[in-house]
Amino acid sequence: MMKFVVLATKPTGIPCTVSMNPVMIDGTGMCGGCRLTLNRNGEKITKFACVDGPDFNGYEIDFDEAQSRSATYKDFEVHQYEESCNLFKQEVK
Ligand code: FES
Repeated sequence: MMKFVVLATKPTGIPCTVSMNPVMIDGTGMCGGCRLTLNRNGEKITKFACVDGPDFNGYEIDFDEAQSRSATYKDFEVHQYEESCNLFKQEVK
């Protein structure tokens, strides 16, 4: 959603601050799960949402990379969710 808010506001020039806390895991700066690439004046900069943010200039965030990284363990997460959630074990009548 934040990506598309940024895309919608960019042509207007309205400043757009995004909060990248959804990509955080442990919030300590140790795991690297919240690593973001920012494009600041043509220079690629690495930041961590938990220690450098979570609020960033939305126009600088590489959302494609952030989305790709957040989907890395999607299959594993779905499998674990299905295996541990009792709702999946119930028969639908
Ligand atoms: S949440 Fe782990 S490094 Fe930021």
